[in-house]
Amino acid sequence: MKNRLKLISGTANPKLARKIAKYLDIPLCKVDISRFSDGEISIRIAENVREKDVFIVQPTFSPAENLMELLLLIDACSRASARRITAVIPYYGYARQDRKDRPRVPISAKLIANLITVAGASRVLALELHAAQIQGFFDIQVDNLFAAPVLLKYIKKRKLKNVTVVSPDVGGIKIGRAFAKRLNSNLAIVDKRRTAADASEVMNVIGDVKGSDIIILDDIISTAGTITQAAEALRKEGAKRIIAAATHPVFSGNALERLKDSCIEEVIVTNSIPFEDPGRCKKVKVLDVSPLLGEAIRRIHTGESISKLFI
Ligand code: R5P
Repeated sequence: MKNRLKLISGTANPKLARKIAKYLDIPLCKVDISRFSDGEISIRIAENVREKDVFIVQPTFSPAENLMELLLLIDACSRASARRITAVIPYYGYARQDRKDRPRVPISAKLIANLITVAGASRVLALELHAAQIQGFFDIQVDNLFAAPVLLKYIKKRKLKNVTVVSPDVGGIKIGRAFAKRLNSNLAIVDKRRTAADASEVMNVIGDVKGSDIIILDDIISTAGTITQAAEALRKEGAKRIIAAATHPVFSGNALERLKDSCIEEVIVTNSIPFEDPGRCKKVKVLDVSPLLGEAIRRIHTGESISKLFI
């Protein structure tokens, strides 16, 4: 396997890529990534990838240079005659506009899918896409991994009592229900209204949370508005301990301050996006998804089942 599989890292999350390489017991493929003096990205694959099974690890969080770098890496591998190119995207950026819900808005999640496909990707390996239907925006194969096994393993070690899993919006009910089932717990929902692209307001808590230990489950924490407002509403309804779990720590604006000042006891996230400053908010616990991604890469390479990872 080892001489046919090539693992390439962009500059967005090299630490995660190194951990995946360690899991797979292979070195990272050598690439030169630098900048022209005007800021444009210069890429060169510094090893032969002809007829290789190439996996490129690059989450596409902001700035858009991360996406651009991914596209250039795919193009470079394609022109270097790689046999198959898998874009490994632990965080798929621009996913939140996934439908035309108002006049004159783009469907950015579809546009990004087009760009990745046109660049020459043969398939995509993603982690916790914002909406499962984004898979259908691609006409190439997509494996969308769930972070649940990683989050659940950690949460099960916490001594929580009378647990209720809470989805902070209706979009997360399906994943919340699956999570609650695995914890043998109840499910509640926060009825959220988005007032602007980056602002929301809690309307109601649906379900009984009085006296419960709560796990608020979301895919993304960006401004932390959603999760902290949900926590506040749950506290008012009589919830006891409140823990937040989300796959992608986007942490934009003053998210960390908000989390620090909130009634949330612990914020569990993964390393899909690098979070390098844990000192600023001691509540944040980062879980490692490299074994999950590494195992998925190994299985794609050898043609084994991915769904078995989630049974
Ligand atoms: C929304 O649909 C997502 O699932 C998250 O709830 C949202 O992106 C979180 O954003 P913020 O932290 O800015 O409220």
